[in-house]
Amino acid sequence: MTTRARDERPLTDKAPAIQRTREEQRLIEEAERIFPTGTRCLTFDGELNFCVGKAKGSHIWDASGNEYIDYLLGSGPHLLGHAHPAVLDALETISKNGTSFLIINENAVDLGKKIIEHVPCAEMVSLHNSGSEATFFALRLARVYRKRDKILKFEGAYHGMHDYALMSNQWTMGTPPFPSAIPNSHGIPGVLKDQVLIAPFNDLQTVAEIIAKHHDELAGVILEPVQRTFTPRPGFLEGVREITANYDIPLIFDEVVTGFRMGLGGAQEAYGVTPDLCALGKAISGGLPLGVLCGREDIMAIANPRRRLQMLPYSMQTGTFSSNPLSTGVACAVIAELERPGVYERIEEVGTELMAGLAEAIAHSGIEASVTGIPSVFEIWFTESKPFDHRSAKQSDFYKNIRFSDLLLRQGVLKAAEKFFVSAAHTDEDVEKSITAFHVALSQLAKEVS
Ligand SMILES: Cc1ncc(COP(=O)(O)O)c(C=O)c1O
Repeated sequence: MTTRARDERPLTDKAPAIQRTREEQRLIEEAERIFPTGTRCLTFDGELNFCVGKAKGSHIWDASGNEYIDYLLGSGPHLLGHAHPAVLDALETISKNGTSFLIINENAVDLGKKIIEHVPCAEMVSLHNSGSEATFFALRLARVYRKRDKILKFEGAYHGMHDYALMSNQWTMGTPPFPSAIPNSHGIPGVLKDQVLIAPFNDLQTVAEIIAKHHDELAGVILEPVQRTFTPRPGFLEGVREITANYDIPLIFDEVVTGFRMGLGGAQEAYGVTPDLCALGKAISGGLPLGVLCGREDIMAIANPRRRLQMLPYSMQTGTFSSNPLSTGVACAVIAELERPGVYERIEEVGTELMAGLAEAIAHSGIEASVTGIPSVFEIWFTESKPFDHRSAKQSDFYKNIRFSDLLLRQGVLKAAEKFFVSAAHTDEDVEKSITAFHVALSQLAKEVS
C-alpha cells in the first residue's frame, strides 16, 4: 500500500454541496413520517440525511447517486464488502429450494459444523435471527444452568435491545456506584434493574470484589472481549475467566462484533481466553439476519426440548426463522471466503493504515484526540487521554464526535456513530481518500472549535 507524504495533500474544507433528487427528498420525507426512527441516517446535519440507493464492495450510494466510502457497513456485517459475489450466488442458489422451513436443513448443519470447527468454546450451537436474540438466550441458558437470576455486565457494553441487555450501555450518562444499573430505555420493567449488576471494564480488582460479594446470586457474566473499541488490558480477560470458573459462573463472550471479524476464532482465539458461551452475529452472515449462540455442551444441552418432557430444567429458545437456509447458507459461503488465505491479513493491513492515518491527521490538526480499537474496528475520541472504559470515554467531547462524522460525510466518507468498521473490500484508493478526508475534517473541526 502506497501513501503520499501527508503534507502534499490538498487540504480543502470546501466539500461540494450535496445534491438531492426530488425522488430522494420524497423518500426521506416519507421515511420521517412513517417510521419513528426516520431514515436512521446517522447525521445530525439535516442536509446530509439520506436514503440508500445501493451498495457494492466498500462503497454505498444514496438514492440521488452520491457516493460514499462506507465504514458503517450496515453496522458491521459486511466484512467482505457489500453485495459480495459469494453472498449473491449463495442467495440465488439456495432460494430456489425454499426460504424457510422451521425444520433443520443442510445449510444449518454445515454452518453448525463450521462454528464448532472455528470457535474455541463451541461444542454445540443454536441458531437465531440477531445478535440481540443470541445474547438474550445466552442469559436465559445461564439462568437455567445456575438456577439463579442475576447477570453481571460491564458498564458501557452493548448486548442488544432486550430488557436485560439495555442496562448501563454506551449511551448511559449517569455514573451510580458499582454495581448499580441504569436502564437505557423507558418501558423496561422496574424489577429488572436489580437483576443486572454493573462492573467497570478493564478493572479486574473491582470485578473480583463484586463477584466475591454476589457470586451466590449470579447466573452469568457477560462481556464484549473488545468492549466497543476498548481493548482488554493484559490479564483482564484471563482474570475474569479465572474468577468465574472458580465459582462455576458461566462466562459469556458477546462476540457479535468481534466474532469472525477478529479472525475465524474471534476474540477468544485472538486473546486465548475461552468462555463458556458465546454470542455471534453481524460479520458471520454477509448482511442476512443471523444470530448464533454456541458453547459448552453441558450448558447448551439445556435447550434440548426433550428435557421439558422429562421434567428437567429447560431453556426454551427457538423461533420461526431460526436456522433458515438463506441466513445459514450465506453464512457458510461467507465463512468459506474468510477461510481463504490473505483475507484477514488484508483487513489488518487496511485497518492499520487507516488508524495510523487518523492518528497522523489528529496530530496535524492539533486537536486533542486519540484512537482506540483494533484494525478491523476502531474509533476516534476527543479526550485528553486515551479512553479504556465507559467512564474514561465519557470525558470525550461528543459534539466533536458528531461534527467530525458529519464533516467526513461531506467528504464522502460514512462511518458508524461510534466506530469505523473495516472490510476486505476497502481498496488502497479508499484508504488514500479516507485519510485525506480525515485531514480535511479534523482541520475544519480545529478551526471551528478554536
Ligand atoms: C456487541 C453487540 N452485541 C449485540 C448486538 C445486537 O445485535 P443485533 O443488532 O443483531 O441485535 C450488537 C449490535 O450492535 C453488538 O454490537
